[in-house]
Amino acid sequence: MSGRRPLIAGNWKMHKTCDEAVKTAQTLARSIPPAGDTEVMIAPPFTALAQVFDVIKNSPIELGAQNLHWKNQGAYTGEISAAMLKSTGCGYAIIGHSERRQFFGETDATVNLRIKAAIAHSLNPVLCVGETEEERDAEATFKILDRQVNKGLEGLVADQLPDLVIAYEPVWAIGTGKTATIDQAQEAHWFIRSLVEKRFGNPLANCLRILYGGSVKPNNISDLMTMADVDGALVGGASLEAETFIQIVSY
Ligand code: PGA
Repeated sequence: MSGRRPLIAGNWKMHKTCDEAVKTAQTLARSIPPAGDTEVMIAPPFTALAQVFDVIKNSPIELGAQNLHWKNQGAYTGEISAAMLKSTGCGYAIIGHSERRQFFGETDATVNLRIKAAIAHSLNPVLCVGETEEERDAEATFKILDRQVNKGLEGLVADQLPDLVIAYEPVWAIGTGKTATIDQAQEAHWFIRSLVEKRFGNPLANCLRILYGGSVKPNNISDLMTMADVDGALVGGASLEAETFIQIVSY
């Protein structure tokens, strides 16, 4: 892993009321050792961010948002801005998750606007990319990754992206129990790193953390983490139970 600090992130998606979120966060805060080798981030729903931050603020756990809008404020009913997220204690923002792309009309262009807004407010973006099953079958995986990475980061320069994280999440592996093989993950991660190197140069590509996402569980995390370009995981379903997530974090 070439000295990059691993990051394990839990994406709670549309799960947990405030009380449920606080309880899970309390268990995590009690169990995750300070100054561990692995950085840990959780992304609760918007409604629970502030309360969860209260629970984890003196722990090593970082807070992340699952999405944001690119405008600072305005008449955008139902949307949440980067400044609002920052004020709850968020340090990270997940952007361009495949569920946003599939179900909510997210495009590479809006992903790019969101990334820029996150950076402008010192939120570390976690840019999600990944191919569908049809795209993999059609051998278009690299083409899709190239487009999603390059368009998602359009107009940005290396100096703006020191804390960029990219999550490779093959759509066919999300919530399906079908994990990519460690070789498929490594190949895609290596390709993403080479795209970033070509575009932004070697120093950024070297420190870029690339997370794997898609049915990560306690029984597959350690194998994934042996791969040279896998720097952590973005965990959905298996992050909802504190005990299971703790097992993944201590892979
Ligand atoms: P999963 O979700 O772990 O439930 O497959 C991963 C994700 O969507 O980030």
